[in-house]
Amino acid sequence: MFKTKITKMLGIEHPIVGGTMMWLATPDFVAAISNAGALGILASAMYSEKEEFRKAVKRIKSLTPKPFAVNLNLFPSLRPVPNDDFITVMIEEGIKIVETSGHKAPEEYIDRLKKAGITVIHKCVGVRYAKKAESIGVDIVTVVGFENGGATGNLDIGTLVLVPRAVDELKVPVIGGGGVVDGRGFLAVLALGAEGVIMGTRMLLTEEGPIHPKLKEALLKATELDTRQIMRSVQSPHRAWYNEAAKRVTELETQQAGLPEIVSMAAGDKARKMYETGDIDLGIISCSQGIGMIHSVKPVAEVIKDIIAQAEQIRQRIKNM
Ligand SMILES: Cc1cc2nc3c(=O)[nH]c(=O)nc-3n(C[C@H](O)[C@H](O)[C@H](O)COP(=O)(O)O)c2cc1C
Repeated sequence: MFKTKITKMLGIEHPIVGGTMMWLATPDFVAAISNAGALGILASAMYSEKEEFRKAVKRIKSLTPKPFAVNLNLFPSLRPVPNDDFITVMIEEGIKIVETSGHKAPEEYIDRLKKAGITVIHKCVGVRYAKKAESIGVDIVTVVGFENGGATGNLDIGTLVLVPRAVDELKVPVIGGGGVVDGRGFLAVLALGAEGVIMGTRMLLTEEGPIHPKLKEALLKATELDTRQIMRSVQSPHRAWYNEAAKRVTELETQQAGLPEIVSMAAGDKARKMYETGDIDLGIISCSQGIGMIHSVKPVAEVIKDIIAQAEQIRQRIKNM
């Protein structure tokens, strides 16, 4: 067992956080992650108004008695995201943990969240952003290295350097990740000084991960060479699986195409259709370099159990060295 400041602060069994996933972090998937002893996070930006969001929160509560969190999206968005309304619902529904992520620290929301007694985690990709978040009063900072599936930012710092740098600079506990898919990465991130470990891509490649089996099958065949950072030219750098859609985005970027063209190729509606139909070249899916180490689709609970068991074994092996 691994008991850390994070397991204590968040009331979870294992120091593992399932990364927020737009259009995929559905109530059932979030509950599966929390039921497995990790922290599931609902992506509030999947909802366009507060009652729909409330329904999702209630659904999670009906599926798990365990702690879960809600993500507030601070990335620029084509659709207006009613974060203030979502916070009202969170307070009314007794949500205890909020994760913020995006291009800025949650300055405009922190007072309201803290007054409501909510534990605030801010996720970012660089030490200076982490320090800014700490300075405004967040309780925990998550840093994800350049290997990660999802937003990479422009600093391009790998997990092995970013996590200890954040740990050295911050007083608040750090959750680290980016490229972690098994007990080796899990233990390594704890060894770097983190109190918890975030995993996105590994969680998605599970039985409960809500993407079409054909897409899972294709991703299982991918190696660490099959992701690319895309959308840097439009100030929204992301690491994604390098399928035909990602290739088309890269071509458009090379041709210096305009923002609308690039954004339309990377649009969420295409991705959602791909997730549902298994048409694997239709849209963009965020994906970690760690994909090269994922070889099976298992239930979330088994993935987590295996990670902890493998980490225990390695801990023993190192002790005996
Ligand atoms: C398919 C997918 C969608 C994601 N969507 C979001 C999102 O909407 N908001 C966010 O903050 N992070 C998002 N992420 C990032 C994850 O929450 C997490 O930080 C990341 O996956 C950790 O790196 P890993 O994939 O190497 O484990 C997404 C990741 C994946 C794989």
